Amino acid sequence: MSLLDDIRELQATAGAELASADDADALEAWRIRYLGSKGAVKSAMQQLKEVPREEKPEAGKALNALKNSLQSAYDAKAASQQTGTGPRRTVEDITLPGEAPRVGHAHVLTQTIDEICEIFARMGFAVASGPEVEDERHNFEALNIPPSHPARDELDNFYIDEQVMLRSQTSTVQIRVMENQQPPVRVVSPGRVYRPDTVDATHSFMFHQLEGLYVDEGVTMVDLKTSIDQFCKAYFGHEVATRFRPSFFPFTEPSAEVDVWFTFADGRQDWMELGGCGMVDPNVLEAVGYDSERYTGWAFGMGIERMVMVRHQIPDIRLLYESDVRFLHQF
Ligand code: DAH
Repeated sequence: MSLLDDIRELQATAGAELASADDADALEAWRIRYLGSKGAVKSAMQQLKEVPREEKPEAGKALNALKNSLQSAYDAKAASQQTGTGPRRTVEDITLPGEAPRVGHAHVLTQTIDEICEIFARMGFAVASGPEVEDERHNFEALNIPPSHPARDELDNFYIDEQVMLRSQTSTVQIRVMENQQPPVRVVSPGRVYRPDTVDATHSFMFHQLEGLYVDEGVTMVDLKTSIDQFCKAYFGHEVATRFRPSFFPFTEPSAEVDVWFTFADGRQDWMELGGCGMVDPNVLEAVGYDSERYTGWAFGMGIERMVMVRHQIPDIRLLYESDVRFLHQF
């Protein structure tokens, strides 16, 4: 028997069997038998190899026609079974409980950022944002970080080319905001920053910071300390204390690091480092064209991940980025 005869016979038997495939199971079994990866059509195609050369074009054409006709007969039957126009419709049990749609919510990092911005909004701060792909001027130069500074090392930053990089700090947004408006400036700016750190339980090559900036006439260190203290009381609770330790940042003078007296989940109490801050260096004000004799300001920057981790007792920073809903649904 030739392949062409086989094809004709296949067409006939498949058609007859399809006509009597009355429910979804029978239809699926038919599909596997004829159209499946080890089905009758596939094996007929394999026989094509053995057909003499001059008969190949005709046999090939017939095979394609068979395949297409079975496929469309199958599609039509499957559609009619689903819409219930087929001969024996599958009966739905309408007493079964329905499937509740899964409701999502904001990621715990986003929730925290929103909450912090909200607290600062009550103190009169607007929310600003800036690009994550930055130039050296905004990431370093205008922030009074000279070319020789170790923070500019190629190995400590994600450079894209000589002048363009992924920002390593949200302090860039201080410059962007001041370039675009005159004092008074009162903004916070949350966002992602990038540093080539080796990933472990407390480090990641990407994390979030929140920057704050206040510039006006007559702004002093007293404003800085009271604002940060107010924020900590609003966020962590009224009983917390804050302390300022002298430090150094190129873009602030004087500079300080802020700690909060924090009660950890196991009841232990200790100072927890929150971030850096200080009075905006006059060089930074001048870099954006502000009159540093007339205006003063303060700035701070803090890491968001650690605040989320201590507050929610999250032991590993990677959990925050893995998008596992079993973990994320808890918050
Ligand atoms: N940009 C600093 C960092 O990433 C944090 C910082 C310190 C920001 C002091 C500030 C500041 O605005 O005044 O380590």
